[in-house]
Amino acid sequence: MYILAIETSCDETAAAVLRDDFEILSNIVLSQDEIHAPYGGVVPELASRQHVKTIDSIVRESLNVAGLKIEQIDAYAVTQGPGLVGSLIVGLSFAKGVAYYFQKPLVGIDHLQAHIEAAFLENRDIPFPVLALLVSGGHTSAFLLRRKLHYDLIGKTRDDAAGEILDKIAKFLDLGYPGGPVIEKLSTKGNPKKFAFGLPRMTDRSLDFSFSGLKTAALKLIKEKKISNEHPHFFDFLASFEAAISRALLHRLRQAVSIFTPKSLVLCGGVARNRRLRADFLAFAQKHRLPAFIPSPKLCTDNAAMVAALALEKLRGQEVTSFSLDLNAYPRS
Ligand code: KG4
Ligand code: ZN
Repeated sequence: MYILAIETSCDETAAAVLRDDFEILSNIVLSQDEIHAPYGGVVPELASRQHVKTIDSIVRESLNVAGLKIEQIDAYAVTQGPGLVGSLIVGLSFAKGVAYYFQKPLVGIDHLQAHIEAAFLENRDIPFPVLALLVSGGHTSAFLLRRKLHYDLIGKTRDDAAGEILDKIAKFLDLGYPGGPVIEKLSTKGNPKKFAFGLPRMTDRSLDFSFSGLKTAALKLIKEKKISNEHPHFFDFLASFEAAISRALLHRLRQAVSIFTPKSLVLCGGVARNRRLRADFLAFAQKHRLPAFIPSPKLCTDNAAMVAALALEKLRGQEVTSFSLDLNAYPRS
């Protein structure tokens, strides 16, 4: 059995084909970074128009690379949300069209659950309960999975997402978009201990995240110390900022581990590509003697292979929400 998945929740047009043994036959991702770079962030209207232009060729390419004809596809999957509604609708309409034409099942997939699935795609035996930390440009959330396909949200950001503040600070410093990869690269030349950033303070005992304070502290430092790429401590500033984000994430993870005593840890989402965060996360897991799983970098950022994998799981466990074309996009979880 072959499944073709489409992902257009934000600014990547993606399509992938997986076999039912979870072998990835193709995983095509077309980034719109160049289109949004001049604006320092995603412009929703431009994103949806670009998806319209490219979706057809990306789906064709995913079939070509997989060496399959569209008639050989047995099921379709598509991201329903959360994401930019205009962008989601492009993928959703396309998927509904082909599924209807070929009279095949169509599985609607949640983007956040798909990010978590990326870890299972590469490691079939992750022990439950799993504590999953999802860190991306649009989301920063922690989920507890007591068993496969059961997601309990235990904390989420109350303001900015971690990737979002990397993108915003990069924009403020004219470093380009997306900010995460640029800051990661420049940070390697800096001392992460040079600038002190505090941990986000929560007045209640919730496991929610908050990153707006860190962003404000960074902006204040930039103004006060006139930080630019000519400043002698420019790289130190970026390294300290990146390390502060990692520290804030692991601080929450530490609390969640002590409350829920999971059997394993997962780190996923676009920011999980970050080398410092990956290393800090693995060191944390080792200290707590917990097996830890991070998808390979290509499966951390938005892609359709993770969408296909989750759909396969749902088809297997028969937890498919809908075989009909009655799927709607949703902007928020
Ligand atoms: O998961 P993703 O592709 O899209 C969303 O669902 O949001 O994540 C994109 C985010 C952006 O904020 C980008 O700056 C960040 O992931 N990112 C990184 C790295 N690569 C991408 N952040 C830190 N280090 C990286 N290497
Ligand atoms: Zn994402």
